[in-house]
Amino acid sequence: MDLPADLAAALEAATADLSLRELEASVERLIMRYRTPGRAARPILAGSVDAAAYAAYRMPATWGAVRAALGAVAERVPELGPRSLVDVGGGSGAAAWAASGVFPSLKDIVVLDQVGDALELGRRLARDAFSGALRHAEWRQVRFPAEIPEADLVTVSYVLSELSAEDQDALVRASAVGAGTIAVVEPGTPDGYQRIMAARDVLIAMGLRVVAPCPHSGACPLAGTRDWCHFAARVHRSPLHRRLKGGDLGHEDEKFAYVVATRVPVPESPARVLRHPQIRKGLVMMQLCEPDGATAQTLVSKRQGDTYRAARDVDWGDLWRGSAD
Ligand SMILES: C[S@@+](CC[C@H](N)C(=O)[O-])C[C@H]1O[C@@H](n2cnc3c(N)ncnc32)[C@H](O)[C@@H]1O
Repeated sequence: MDLPADLAAALEAATADLSLRELEASVERLIMRYRTPGRAARPILAGSVDAAAYAAYRMPATWGAVRAALGAVAERVPELGPRSLVDVGGGSGAAAWAASGVFPSLKDIVVLDQVGDALELGRRLARDAFSGALRHAEWRQVRFPAEIPEADLVTVSYVLSELSAEDQDALVRASAVGAGTIAVVEPGTPDGYQRIMAARDVLIAMGLRVVAPCPHSGACPLAGTRDWCHFAARVHRSPLHRRLKGGDLGHEDEKFAYVVATRVPVPESPARVLRHPQIRKGLVMMQLCEPDGATAQTLVSKRQGDTYRAARDVDWGDLWRGSAD
């Protein structure tokens, strides 16, 4: 995935005059801090340099993860067409940019965060966005716990790890109360998956139905195993991004875990592909999460013609509509 051209240009302009040394020092500190998830007594982004460093080195990856998660929702519920978005803990607006790309129907965007410098940067980045909803977004300084406004779509992206377990629960609850659909995204680590599982339980208990990635609202078949449900979004790196993160790779694979739940009626889901399918001579092996709540290894052989050709094209995270028998 490439960042939208207007966001890439805005990020470049916003960081052009900053000292590279200061940005690098800030990135190093933020990487260390985010490596150890845990309640933050004070905001982790401690000023305009941190906000810019975060936007330069993390925002493309979190944008990519939310874009992929919301893309999965748009595929499952093509008629969703949300008009309003609240981005909870939105910082400089990664999820708001992702949502406006997936849902051109958006008209009203509110971004809530405790860090004024991140919101100010977000406002600057969105000033010349192609999307009118982004250009006119409201960037509101709020410290949670707080009432979350109602919206057709609510995003909570990479926020929960900074809160205590109790506050995570309360924030998911407050975010879901007035949400038509809610997307919660976390890093694709075992502890990120655990936070997503806890959020999923809260959303189901509140009467919402899970639409992605799970094809069911029952218990997760990976819970209690050594495996955890996560996906990956490949995002191209800008030269500044490469410089700040070190290394020469032109892309990074952001691993993420997520859950999206809705109050909108949705049809039954096909199975979801949980890993990179393994392609052997004349055979495709897929690990699937099935609509009945089970996980299964499915083999599709060349003899299955169209089903086999479809299986060769599916990727980790896709829906699998084919039949393997
Ligand atoms: C890791 S950043 C994620 C930013 C953005 N959502 C993204 O996906 O890139 C976490 C954000 O949550 C905000 N946050 C954390 N705890 C908060 C609280 N108690 N009240 C308001 N904002 C909070 C932080 O200020 C920060 O901007």
